[in-house]
Amino acid sequence: MEVIATKAEVRRTLRAAGKPVVLVPTMGALHEGHLSLIRRAREIAGPQGTVAVSIFVNPIQFDRASDLEAYPRPMESDLAACRAEGVDVVFAPGAGEMYEADRSVTVTESVLSKDLCGAARPGHFDGVCTVVLKLFLITGCEAAVFGEKDFQQLAVIHRMVRDLDVPVEIIAHETVREQDGLAMSSRNVRLTPEQRAAAPRIRFALAAARNSHSRDAREIIAIARREIMASHPTHIDYLELVDEESLHPVETVERPATLAAAVFFGDVRLIDHIRVEPHGA
Ligand code: PAF
Repeated sequence: MEVIATKAEVRRTLRAAGKPVVLVPTMGALHEGHLSLIRRAREIAGPQGTVAVSIFVNPIQFDRASDLEAYPRPMESDLAACRAEGVDVVFAPGAGEMYEADRSVTVTESVLSKDLCGAARPGHFDGVCTVVLKLFLITGCEAAVFGEKDFQQLAVIHRMVRDLDVPVEIIAHETVREQDGLAMSSRNVRLTPEQRAAAPRIRFALAAARNSHSRDAREIIAIARREIMASHPTHIDYLELVDEESLHPVETVERPATLAAAVFFGDVRLIDHIRVEPHGA
């Protein structure tokens, strides 16, 4: 496995190999969820193809300096995990390598990124789109694998690739969960034992709201809110029912919708979502 820190070298290495590249973009702190993305990438690339993993904590997608600072960066164990999974190339640049000090171009998706995490974290999706497009251009990948947990991110990236004719196939991979239902996230390691014990309540609350079979957004949200609050989070950042395609809030479930939540436990912000079908009450 090659570990490369510069754009020029990763370009050279991947092009010299002359094989199709499947990229797994990450911010490191790899957990089982990431490893399943890497395994999916290998399936797509095949034994002869190249699986590349980028590890870069992208400063321009963070809206809070404290979150950026606290983001875990266990590089040695990340590299060991990549090695064990048979990754061919890890691209792990520093911020100075990725961004010019006077950079002035940003990629903006202006519709799907408006609500949910986009409203709660101004500029977040500009940062995601910008770094993802740069990673696609630097690696020249043919396909890239993303987790469905970040469903808004996935929708925004699909739209960016469509609208800018980016020749990269986007592969969505299902959310990997702990046994108690908590969606795997690099942020989970920052939870205290009490917060960790309470956090699976998010999934439970979303499922309870969905299983009510109500079609009324207010009712669905109220059920989820009540169940989440029972876990003593510090703050619900958002809890919304949005149309699965437009990601705009809906009042009634007429077609598949997504119930999405972002919840703070202390200063750790966790997200999750669930599909709500128009079953009727
Ligand atoms: O999902 C993530 O880990 C990040 O948003 C990504 C796609 C690697 C961009 O920094």
